[in-house]
Amino acid sequence: MKLRSIAVVFLIGFLTIYFHHSVQTKLPQPHAGYTGAPGDLGACGPCHSGGSIPGALSINFSAGGSNYTLSDTFNLIVSISAGAAVYGFQMVALDDQGNSVGSFINNNSLTATQFSSGRDYINNSGGSGNPAWAMKWEAPSTDVGNVTFFISGIAGNANLLETGDDTYNSNLIINPPPPSAAINSNVTSVCPGDSIQFFDVSSGTVTQ
Ligand code: HEC
Repeated sequence: MKLRSIAVVFLIGFLTIYFHHSVQTKLPQPHAGYTGAPGDLGACGPCHSGGSIPGALSINFSAGGSNYTLSDTFNLIVSISAGAAVYGFQMVALDDQGNSVGSFINNNSLTATQFSSGRDYINNSGGSGNPAWAMKWEAPSTDVGNVTFFISGIAGNANLLETGDDTYNSNLIINPPPPSAAINSNVTSVCPGDSIQFFDVSSGTVTQ
């Protein structure tokens, strides 16, 4: 009798772990290449569709900044405002020629990076009831011009299928580093009444 109760307890324990695990692994991270960017395979839709949740997807770059500076690391926050049960997203950063630029860095286990077809992607890691993700992006070490973050996301009903879900697309353009002028003058100390010439070190242009 006692042995049988122990066996039942073990069986319930095993089944709990088994089903919990299978539910966890069924909530997938998206396959790479679905941010909706030019040259990608597509976006989260039309695979995911059929929802009726009004909402929006937004991306915040470095607390509203509009420039990157070379080799610096910037904070990014992706969020979806919609009353859904499960959320997901994927993002890529491209220059105007469609090259993947910089690299994404995970802040925590809610995101994961994937490298595919020469592009660096970041996305939700597993399904998540969490509608916002924080991560970092390290800017390239050379000026690559404008950088566009392309992003696609879903607000889903957590039925473990691609039905009953809404999809959103968005992008954000970040400008290259502002030009910095190296200025010098023709004198090192100034007396009242002196005139000074300033010149741009790179071009030699003189400003009086
Ligand atoms: C090529 C089709 C396809 C594309 C594109 C796709 N998915 Fe899915 N997704 C599926 C399928 C199929 C499922 C059902 C679970 C499974 O079979 O893995 C699913 C399930 C999910 C779920 C669980 C949804 C729920 O309501 O339970 C999430 C979250 C998810 N996908 C995120 C994404 C995100 C984010 C994107 C876009 C970046 C994306 N998927 C793009 C096919 C797709």
